[in-house]
Amino acid sequence: MKALVLSGGSGTRLRPFSYSMPKQLIPVANKPVLEHVLENIRSIGVTEIGVIVGDRAAQIEAVIGDGSALGVDITYIRQESPDGLAACVALARPFLGDDDFVMYLGDNMLPDGIQPIAQEFAARRPAAQVVVHKVEDPRSFGVAELDENGGVTRLVEKPQQPRSDLALIGVYFFTPAVHEAVAAIEPSARGELEITDAIQWLVARGDDVKASEYQGYWKDTGRIEDVLECNRYLLEGLSSEVLGEVDGASVLTGPVVIEAGARVTGSRIDGPAVIAAGTVIEDSHIGPHTSIGGDCTLSGAQIGYSIVLGDASITQVRGLHGSVIGRAASVGPSSIDDTHRRLVIGDHTRVEVAA
Ligand code: DAU
Repeated sequence: MKALVLSGGSGTRLRPFSYSMPKQLIPVANKPVLEHVLENIRSIGVTEIGVIVGDRAAQIEAVIGDGSALGVDITYIRQESPDGLAACVALARPFLGDDDFVMYLGDNMLPDGIQPIAQEFAARRPAAQVVVHKVEDPRSFGVAELDENGGVTRLVEKPQQPRSDLALIGVYFFTPAVHEAVAAIEPSARGELEITDAIQWLVARGDDVKASEYQGYWKDTGRIEDVLECNRYLLEGLSSEVLGEVDGASVLTGPVVIEAGARVTGSRIDGPAVIAAGTVIEDSHIGPHTSIGGDCTLSGAQIGYSIVLGDASITQVRGLHGSVIGRAASVGPSSIDDTHRRLVIGDHTRVEVAA
């Protein structure tokens, strides 16, 4: 069994971050989403992984490398334009050969693991097995209709009037039968070759297509709100580990990770929170549910329910909540006077300040 991870695409809903990094590299609990995905695949015993990459290939390769640090073996497959999820399967055919494979969207987080679903697939080996989850508003997802035995009777991509509340959540198990389906379908109204249509083609032909309902926590990290919420969930499972320096004037409560090389002085950190290597925190109040990346400087800062990416600085600014601060960004007091706010912000950035 092999795996195919999809890490191409554009990620416009994650602007401004997606201007400078692929959305699959956004950190959740201080680790790129893609790394969480690869670890999940390794945990079902699959190590031969093809990764579809688009024009951000170099950045992804710089972070993930050949996969050996994660105990997997990565083959990068370059996609010139985001032509759809089924187009990715066609592109990966030489890598996949005639093996069964799990396809995993590189921006979907299923932190409670997919082991039981992988076992179900291995035991019954239907032509395809999709993973579904109940959602409140299924209109922005592929939607599955099932019979009483978990057999898929119909699949529709982003229906305006969904006939079930079961969304496809980015993990699919396939036998080589899918390649015939991918070759048979036409591009959808949005101009993409949809994997949902390919699986529907198998259903219509009478192939055995099953669905497994994932009972755990799931997030498509396509929007900033979802990234923050997913960060909160992952941090809930944190265990304390203090390897960096914390002075006697600082107080840590709840699960807090301070990586080696980080330094905390005169501060309060309410867990769950994680502070990465090389970061300096002084006279600040951090947390809960906050991840601070590497080599940041926080001084006189107060920030909770937030993510700060590497090399950022926050100086003398309190009351930050639900924030995502980009790499090497700087948040500080006005350099004009204390009645003015000075903003130097990039395209599609969002700033919300108290009136
Ligand atoms: O999140 C689950 C949903 O993902 C499913 O319910 C839908 O059925 C499925 O079509 C997909 O919908 P999205 O519109 O959210 O897909 P998105 O364009 O975000 O692409 C998903 C991942 O695949 C993302 O990591 C980017 C990557 N991708 C996407 C395209 C279109 C590629 O690598 N190549 C592509 O051509």
